[in-house]
Amino acid sequence: MKQTPYYFYDLDLLNETLNCLKSNIKGTNFKVHYAVKANNNTEILQLIANEGLGADCVSGGEIRWALEAGFHSSEIVFAGVGKTDEEITYALENNVGMIHCESLQEILVINELAGELNTFANIALRLNPNVNPLTHEKISTGLKENKFGLTSLEFEELIGIYPTLSNLRIVGMHFHVGSQIQDMSVYVDLCDRINELAPVFTTCIGPLEYLNVGGGLGIDYFEPEENPIPDFDGYFEAFKTCLELDPSVPVHFELGRSIVAQCGSLHTKVLYIKRSEEKNFAVLDAGMTELLRPALYNAYHKMERLDGLETGEEFLYDIVGPICESSDCFGKDILLPELKRGDIITIRSCGAYAESMSLNYNGREKVPSILHSTLNLVEKG
Ligand code: LLP
Repeated sequence: MKQTPYYFYDLDLLNETLNCLKSNIKGTNFKVHYAVKANNNTEILQLIANEGLGADCVSGGEIRWALEAGFHSSEIVFAGVGKTDEEITYALENNVGMIHCESLQEILVINELAGELNTFANIALRLNPNVNPLTHEKISTGLKENKFGLTSLEFEELIGIYPTLSNLRIVGMHFHVGSQIQDMSVYVDLCDRINELAPVFTTCIGPLEYLNVGGGLGIDYFEPEENPIPDFDGYFEAFKTCLELDPSVPVHFELGRSIVAQCGSLHTKVLYIKRSEEKNFAVLDAGMTELLRPALYNAYHKMERLDGLETGEEFLYDIVGPICESSDCFGKDILLPELKRGDIITIRSCGAYAESMSLNYNGREKVPSILHSTLNLVEKG
């Protein structure tokens, strides 16, 4: 029996997901950048780079990983509300395709650093569209109250000083309203706002040569088996039908979760069963350090006993990890076949924001990953 816990990635499903994504954008002027933050496992990055996607990075470290995995620098976009001078310099030195800017000060710093390097930066403005993403408040970004994007006050100030910024050119707009969005009307609302803002951009800044609509497409955490591939059809259709832009403007997307979430799961062992008058606890050898989402967002992940044998009778368990925090709980009152010490539990939909958000709190070591495809099996320690 393999040492647990470990992340298990089904590369066949990842390939199937990428094929579905690519068939949806074939023949369009759409370009998808994979949001590296969702999962930066080297093999996964390499596979996605080989499929011709770009990369969406939010730090110098992510840019480096993307370059090392084979993404071409011109296909890398660099975003983030707090880029350091060193990260900006690194991005400029490596000629990343686009920098998404989120404040006036950041734009001034980029202009200055580009000047020092005797180079020229292409940038896009991240604008806050004030669109409700209808998702968990902790993963909502497109509302006025969120820290992301240039404020309208700063946008107005920028128009005044833009002609003096000689080392950069503002070529377009960037948006991202939130994550785990399953209601496609959110994207219709976003398109409406973009249609309103595009003429403003053209009048105040110049021709719109680049549009990036962010990511955020959600997945089915409740029925991963029934819905292994997210609704790419509905998602791209919203943009195909609702964006009213000159068709020569390329439209960029930054999808993370929808590409990788369903191909991954976390395999973990039951260490102990503990019974009280009120409850049964199943204590696992994986915790919030390997999958933070339930503790951080009360997120639901489907859990199954790996042997898959029907036992008939099922029992309610609180499924908890070994970390010294009460929030280290994957789910309360979860109905499962009878569990015993040594049973393996699969926690589903862990391909996104699990391994990449892992922690070493409580002295926990990073756990290995197994990448499975019908062609080969790769184990990483
Ligand atoms: N672009 C920007 C600017 C973003 O901030 C994000 C995600 C993405 C693209 C990719 O979004 P996706 O397609 O993966 O939804 N840790 C949270 C999710 C945080 C998302 C942060 N930004 C979770 O586990 O649900």
